[in-house]
Amino acid sequence: MIDLTGKVALVTGSSRGIGRACALKLAEAGADVIVNYVTSKAAATEVAERIEQMGRIAYVVKADVSEEDDVDCLMDFVRENIGQLDIIVSNAATGGFRPLLASNARHFQHTMSTNVLSLVHVVRGALPMLETSSGRGKVIAISSHGSHMALPMYGLIGGSKAALESVARHLTLEVGDRGVNVNVVKAGLVETDSTRKIPFADRMFAGRTDKSMMGERVLEAEDVANTVLFLASPMSDLVQGETITVDGGSAIHI
Ligand SMILES: NC(=O)c1ccc[n+]([C@@H]2O[C@H](COP(=O)([O-])OP(=O)(O)OC[C@H]3O[C@@H](n4cnc5c(N)ncnc54)[C@H](OP(=O)(O)O)[C@@H]3O)[C@@H](O)[C@H]2O)c1
Repeated sequence: MIDLTGKVALVTGSSRGIGRACALKLAEAGADVIVNYVTSKAAATEVAERIEQMGRIAYVVKADVSEEDDVDCLMDFVRENIGQLDIIVSNAATGGFRPLLASNARHFQHTMSTNVLSLVHVVRGALPMLETSSGRGKVIAISSHGSHMALPMYGLIGGSKAALESVARHLTLEVGDRGVNVNVVKAGLVETDSTRKIPFADRMFAGRTDKSMMGERVLEAEDVANTVLFLASPMSDLVQGETITVDGGSAIHI
């Protein structure tokens, strides 16, 4: 059994969806958790209450991870109030579903700041704590199939996820020898608030079992969180700079 007792985890964007599932999963395994949100205070508070009911400490911190100043404030909070950070799940993302040809520089900049640069800001701010973690510090970023496949209306996010995977590998090179692992979980389609907004979402959800090899079982946020838990634990110490796909095998065949 994975035991994260005594560890402190930060999950960016953990008020909803996959981030929420990761926060609960890490707490279930024993970690205290910093629940980060940007707009959904009530939802973040509910996640924190669930974590406290498990007997862990939860901290709710509002920070827009696309803003370096906000990330600095978040890290100041962690340093001053907790003094420890062992696990980071860089999950928060944005982008909007629109054609590339209808996207302007602001759309690109905001997507890249939230989905890619945030990982660098967070790791830079947290590094002194990650590298003094008892055991290895763990950083896990969440990517999607858009990083290597073309999906309608997904060019902005897909491009950012390709960049995210590359940046994660390069970050590994910079922090791996300093006691930190950086890995990526590439998730298949999970029904969340954001994917419900994809044009033709119902058709996409209905087709989820077509290519997966899991019978009628569909991918849930908790399935992604299970792999995040593995990457957050000492069981994955020798997994470095990897991208692990969690999609029931959907993307390995045509
Ligand atoms: N769902 C899928 O099918 C799928 C598949 C592959 C990968 N992913 C990836 O998984 C991650 C989570 O996706 P999801 O579907 O769970 O999304 P979601 O349900 O829309 O939740 C997004 C979360 O991110 C937070 N967030 C957004 N922008 C933020 C910012 N600038 N600063 C801090 N927090 C911010 C939101 O906070 P508020 O609630 O406060 O707004 C919310 O907690 C993303 O990286 C996404 O690309 C999702």
